[in-house]
Amino acid sequence: MLLEFNEVEILYSNIILALKGVTLEVSEGSIVSILGSNGAGKSTILKAISGLLTTESGRISKGAVIFQGKRINGVEPAVIARSGISMVMEGRALFRSLTVEENIKVGSLIRKDGKKQIAEDLETITRFFPRLWERKRQTAGTLSGGEAQMLVISMALMTKPKLLLLDEPSLGLAPLMAEHVFEAIKKINADLGTTIVLVEQNAYLSLPISDFAYVITNGQVALKAAAEELEGRDISCYYLGAN
Ligand SMILES: Nc1ncnc2c1ncn2[C@@H]1O[C@H](COP(=O)(O)OP(=O)(O)OP(=O)(O)O)[C@@H](O)[C@H]1O
Ligand SMILES: [Mg+2]
Repeated sequence: MLLEFNEVEILYSNIILALKGVTLEVSEGSIVSILGSNGAGKSTILKAISGLLTTESGRISKGAVIFQGKRINGVEPAVIARSGISMVMEGRALFRSLTVEENIKVGSLIRKDGKKQIAEDLETITRFFPRLWERKRQTAGTLSGGEAQMLVISMALMTKPKLLLLDEPSLGLAPLMAEHVFEAIKKINADLGTTIVLVEQNAYLSLPISDFAYVITNGQVALKAAAEELEGRDISCYYLGAN
C-alpha cells in the first residue's frame, strides 16, 4: 500500500471529533474516490495526509497515517510535500497577478533536479491541458473556474508527486468543463502513474475514473467498494443531506 489510514481519529481545537476511527487503503497507481456530503470529513482526511491539519489547530488524536510504510502523523507540511505528496486544496489557490506559465513554474521550486528535467516535465504537463497552455501569458486572476482548476492541478504536478490529493475539483464548474477536467485526471493517472486520492461530492463524475471508493458519513466510513460496483448502485442516501 502506498498510503494507509489505521483507525484515524481527528480532533479540531481539542473538542471537535471530525474523524471517528477511519481506516483507508490506497494502493500504488490507483485512483481512490472519497465521497460524502458537506461536513462529512472529506477535506479533513486530505489535510491529515498533507500535514495541513496542524495549521488549523487540528491533530491526529488516535491511529496512524502511513505513507510508503512510514508513519507521518504530525509531520510538517513542507516535509510531507518533499516526500512526494501534493495537495490541491478546495478553492483554487493560485497567484492571481502572475501569468499561467509563472504559476506553473512556482510548482517546481521545491525540486532539486536540473533545469532541463524541469523543462521536459513542463512540456509533459502542459499536454494534459492544451487549452490552458494556449493562455500561458494570461494572468491567472482572469482565468475561468475550469481553467483555474487546470492550473492548480498543473502546479501540483510540477512537484512530481507520487501521491496527488485533489479536493473537489468539480466544484462550481459547468458540466462539460468538469468532464474535461476529470478526463485529464484519468489521463494523468494513466500516463504518469500518479496515485490519486479524489475527494468529491459528485459521484457521477468521480466513480467512472476511480478504482475504489469510500463514502464518508459523519466522520466515519459508511461504505467502501470497488468504484465499478458503486456505479451501479444508488448511494445518494449515504451522502446527499445524510448528515
Ligand atoms: N479548522 C477547523 N476547526 C474546527 N472544526 C473544523 C475545522 N475544519 C473542519 N472542521 C469541522 O470538521 C468537520 C469536517 O469538515 P471537513 O471540512 O472535513 O468536511 P468536508 O467533508 O470536506 O465538507 P465539504 O464538502 O463542505 O467541503 C465539520 O464538522 C467541520 O465543521
Ligand atoms: Mg471539504
